Amino acid sequence: MTRTIPAKQRKILVTSALPYANGSIHLGHLVEYIQTDIWVRFQKMQGHSCHYVCADDTHGTPIMLRAEKEGITPEQLIARVWQEHFDDFSAFHVNFDNYGSTNSNETREFAQGIYKKLKAENLIEVRSIEQFYDPVKNMFLPDRFIKGECPKCHAKDQYGDNCEACGAAYAPTELINPFSAVSGAKPELRNSDHYFFKLSDQRCQDFLRQWTRSDTLQAEASNKMQEWLGSADENKLSDWDISRDAPYFGFEIPDAPGKYFYVWLDAPVGYMGSFKQLCEKKGIAFDEYWKQDSDAELYHFIGKDILYFHALFWPAMLQHAGYRTPTKLFAHGFLTVNGEKMSKSRGTFITARSYVEHIKNTEYLRYYYAAKLNGSMEDLDLSLDDFVAKVNSDLIGKFINIASRTAGFISKKFDGKLAGKEQVSAAGNALMSSFIAASPVIASCYEDRDFGKAIREIMRLADQANEYVNDKAPWVLAKQEGQEAALQEACTVSLNLFRLLSLYLKPILPMLAKEVESFFNIDPLTWASAENLVLGHTINTYQHLMTRLDPKLIEGMVAANQESLQAAPQSHSPARHAEAQQHAIAPIAETISIDDFSKIDLRVAKIVNAEHVEGAEKLLKLTLDIGEEKPRTVFAGIKSAYDPEKLKGRMTVMVANLAPRKMKFGMSEGMVLAASGEAPGLFILSPDDGAQAGMRVK
Ligand code: 2FM
Ligand code: ZN
Repeated sequence: MTRTIPAKQRKILVTSALPYANGSIHLGHLVEYIQTDIWVRFQKMQGHSCHYVCADDTHGTPIMLRAEKEGITPEQLIARVWQEHFDDFSAFHVNFDNYGSTNSNETREFAQGIYKKLKAENLIEVRSIEQFYDPVKNMFLPDRFIKGECPKCHAKDQYGDNCEACGAAYAPTELINPFSAVSGAKPELRNSDHYFFKLSDQRCQDFLRQWTRSDTLQAEASNKMQEWLGSADENKLSDWDISRDAPYFGFEIPDAPGKYFYVWLDAPVGYMGSFKQLCEKKGIAFDEYWKQDSDAELYHFIGKDILYFHALFWPAMLQHAGYRTPTKLFAHGFLTVNGEKMSKSRGTFITARSYVEHIKNTEYLRYYYAAKLNGSMEDLDLSLDDFVAKVNSDLIGKFINIASRTAGFISKKFDGKLAGKEQVSAAGNALMSSFIAASPVIASCYEDRDFGKAIREIMRLADQANEYVNDKAPWVLAKQEGQEAALQEACTVSLNLFRLLSLYLKPILPMLAKEVESFFNIDPLTWASAENLVLGHTINTYQHLMTRLDPKLIEGMVAANQESLQAAPQSHSPARHAEAQQHAIAPIAETISIDDFSKIDLRVAKIVNAEHVEGAEKLLKLTLDIGEEKPRTVFAGIKSAYDPEKLKGRMTVMVANLAPRKMKFGMSEGMVLAASGEAPGLFILSPDDGAQAGMRVK
């Protein structure tokens, strides 16, 4: 009899971090969702009760401003992005039991309820703080919306919280020549009352020390926590500012008109809100999972960058509001592509959608990520060449190959019927049993999130299965008279090995596993069904299950992502690009020496302002910062191609030692570089991410 419920059925609730509702899902995000989804599918295959919830993280200033820029309401923006995110996750088979939004009644009620309990516990304090205010936009500015010169290394154009050039962290008030990134205005310091969660309270400190000592964190995360908490006689935790002033898109704080919860307060509460929706739909008892002495397990999969929020604020909030705390946090590292940070100019900043458009099969990526994941906080590299090689050698060359070399004989020669139990030799049985015996080892790799190790084990078995097929050579047996029984046995054993490998890979390749189930005419594969060998049973005709990954598809995807950056901002049309490609290029100019070239001083420039020039048909007036004391004014003939508003803040390249030229509209102090050809269009240059204003281009 098939065992579907394990001896002890665990109650598990799993979450992935909530993506912000103002950006597309990209391959970096997918590391986490694919990792979580694999783990959840594994737990479900074990017969445990496992719920996986997530939601869009919808509140905060960036979302409010983006909606304003698009001329829509924040609610319209988040509804559109929700659908995009949901479709992207579905395409990658990330199977949430509920995908909600933090902008829900459920999340509002929990956030306000938690706040009230913390207040009753005397853990909320109101203090007046001085903060930068944009007098043009009439709003307080979050640190990320204030820019200026780094007080430590003097790099220009740094954010208000930390410097990307030297890594220093500081208060926005320390920036030199600060300006509002929203309006460009000089910000003013103003006072306002803010609400703080008293993390420095002894009760929070004591609780967090004890919480960290339990088995809640990975070793690296636990070290970080010790660093943040300091030694027992220190009080290193500061109170957490949980309020923001209107205008803000979020939930109002009870009894505090004009004050809103900071997005990071209600974001993790969104885990509860989304789960509550699932409970309502499925009749699950919410409290069973969230009450203080709950016997359910709660796991949060997160990126290492948001550990602070999940390891300090979140458990402290839950604890003091009377809820259970997480069983464990599973933090992962960042994604690099070809060994480097994802980059738009290299074409490696790839969205989920772009992957689907070009590659289609999302299980390739699930497999590759799984092969690279080991449950630690290490970064993970997607090497595009290795991706193609691994998918083709493991999935096609080793795994699919077992079925494609044996299945046809069963349909053609035996009417789809596999050999019966009594027809399988002792050697065949022993091989199948050894595959079944691998089940607990593979299961513990999945449980530990060491998917890479699980895959190595599965591929070791796949090698054995291929050796068996090679030894038996069914294509030879098929030509020999009197070898029918041997042929049927060899193919039956091979296909049973294939079924077991499909079962072990099912958390990673759920769609492929589904096709395998229908090919075999069997019930959905569960971990306990490993023992159910398929003997004397009629299977369906084999249809090819997976094709090789063509490296050209990867090249096309990278090129398309590069292209969309270089083309005019509005144009993403591949047809238009192809047409432009057909034009011959202009002849190459006369050869020059390196000395000739080095006479031209090219500099990275930041466009701090761009505006129309009254009476000028072709010109835009650009204000360019190349790190000098005063920015330069340059009149550029790019009006036909660019909306000046869209140029503000962009980096480009200018000729800095061109003699100043007096023009009808004023003095032009240099020249920006732009590409053009016979086809319409004019394209200014952009340096790669990380280039700073003033850097020389050689
Ligand atoms: O860092 C982020 O993308 C956040 N939106 C994650 C929130 S996770 C949770 F706390 F909601
Ligand atoms: Zn700096």
